[in-house]
Amino acid sequence: CGIVGYIGGRQAAPILLEGLHRLEYRGYDSAGIAVPHRGRLKVTKAAVRVEELRGLVGDGHPAQLGIAHTRWATHGEPSDVNAHPHVDAEGRIAVVHNGIIENAEALRAKLTAGGVEFASETDTEALAHLIAARLADGAESLEDAVRAALHEVEGAYGLVVLDARDPHELVVARNGSPIVLGIGDGEMFVASDLAALVRHTQRVVYLDDGELATLRAGDYRTSTLQARRTDKLPTEVELTDADYGLDGYADYMRKEIAEQPESVRRALLGRLDERFATARLGGLRLDARELRSIRRVKFLGCGSAYYAGQIGANLVEELARLPADAEPASEFRYRNPVVDGDTLYVAVSQSGETADTLAAVQELARKGGRVIGMVNAVGSAIARECGSGVFLHAGPEVSVASTKAVTNMSTCFAMLALLLGRVRDLSVADGRRVVEALDALPARIQEVVADEEHIAEAARRFADARHMFFVGRVRGWPVAREGAQKLKEISYVHAEAYQAGELKHGPIALIDRSMPSVVIVPDDELLAKNIGTIEQIKARGGPVLAVTNAELPRGLADVELRVPRTEPELDPILFGIPLQLLAYHLAKQLGRDIDKPRNLAKSVTVE
Ligand code: G6P
Repeated sequence: CGIVGYIGGRQAAPILLEGLHRLEYRGYDSAGIAVPHRGRLKVTKAAVRVEELRGLVGDGHPAQLGIAHTRWATHGEPSDVNAHPHVDAEGRIAVVHNGIIENAEALRAKLTAGGVEFASETDTEALAHLIAARLADGAESLEDAVRAALHEVEGAYGLVVLDARDPHELVVARNGSPIVLGIGDGEMFVASDLAALVRHTQRVVYLDDGELATLRAGDYRTSTLQARRTDKLPTEVELTDADYGLDGYADYMRKEIAEQPESVRRALLGRLDERFATARLGGLRLDARELRSIRRVKFLGCGSAYYAGQIGANLVEELARLPADAEPASEFRYRNPVVDGDTLYVAVSQSGETADTLAAVQELARKGGRVIGMVNAVGSAIARECGSGVFLHAGPEVSVASTKAVTNMSTCFAMLALLLGRVRDLSVADGRRVVEALDALPARIQEVVADEEHIAEAARRFADARHMFFVGRVRGWPVAREGAQKLKEISYVHAEAYQAGELKHGPIALIDRSMPSVVIVPDDELLAKNIGTIEQIKARGGPVLAVTNAELPRGLADVELRVPRTEPELDPILFGIPLQLLAYHLAKQLGRDIDKPRNLAKSVTVE
């Protein structure tokens, strides 16, 4: 979900709508805006996209402050009434909220018993009634009322509150869901994401969990839930509005795929050490002795970050000969894991805000696990919670389907694996081989991107398929999983990934002419095995699209997508890219809304 708030000397509505537009990738089930109007609230909200909301708002909102929201439904289906902002019974207090209120039912019951009637099914509405009740009880300020209300609330929130009777301030609070203030000149902004702010200001204040802020046009004040002042100073961000633009592309996903030579170059910048054939990752804050004391590596992340983590685990095992694995952070956090001091835990996240990954990091911190972050968003909760790690430097990723961030994850994992290997028994020669291949990676990626037309043609050929297999083994297995995930996310074609060797143990029963398989075939020691897999599929009449850098027997696959050569350990990084383009063009062919796939949101800051 996305939050925006404004207070200053300009009309708020256009600024809020523009901000929502920038945040739409965070959720787009419904959208709404609230401004004060003669002591009452004026609220416009509906289960529509921001563009339509703009039409509904028209120019009827002259106020110079307001709040707005774009929603990804958790409690209550997407509908006009469930859209934010939510208001109290008198139409005085408006709230926009990200996160989830865990004791919403209990609060609702208490408020209902006191005579409050609820208009929606959301957990957020309880907040509006609760704050209004604290004001009615005599709270001295909106800030005090919000603070008192939040003492009764359990759960995660990032929220902004507006009191139509006192239209000179906004109150903001954060606990587990991001909130950042934008400091302007005689005006203040607040948002859940920098994307909505950088058009107006580069001076920002990140709120911490358990922190509140009161914004007025000319100043802001931060404090804790216990009313202790925190006096936060602004920091400067380098991002500008241009970093969030489409640059002439039809969609962000396409733009971000094309950007990968550049974004991978950024990830590598200053981190390859040719002389000692290793990687320099100063942000890890681990010296050689500490690096050597690591006995095992575990990658934790969700969705694509988890699949990328599997690539990372393979790289660590291959280059550093350390046992390594990846696990969804959403599983790890709930299964009372054995945390051991010799393991390096790696929290992987584009946004740095994914609730499950953050919770895994917090659980590790409680149990004394050594955890580093591999995060794209600087200043994000996971990056801050970890304290040390490797920034991905992919730049802002707007497309819901992750591409350049995933590629940068694997690239950074390769550097981590190289570093761990070089303080153990990886030879100089092997280290150098990997360093050189990493250095050449941007150029190789460029070659894949340049082959787009060929990939688009393959996508057209398979556009009728309702189901698809993605098959790979060992290095190719996480590639297949991420390939299937990309296709599912944006085309809604049912895609299943299988380890090549497992195909014959069940799923092969599904193979027929209508079930194409995308097979990952690197030219490595398993080539013959993968050729065997293709033959098994062909023997059952299944069409095969091979993604390969090997010379396959003529006519073996129905379609071949060629991938340039790199060192075998790095194949998974490069093989992922044609699969991104395949998913993209297949979804385009089906007329899907690429940047706003149904039911998904870019970051999931709730459980
Ligand atoms: C959401 C997105 C996925 C993403 C996952 C993890 O589910 O839809 O594309 O892979 O979150 O996000 P993160 O920001 O932690 O990498």
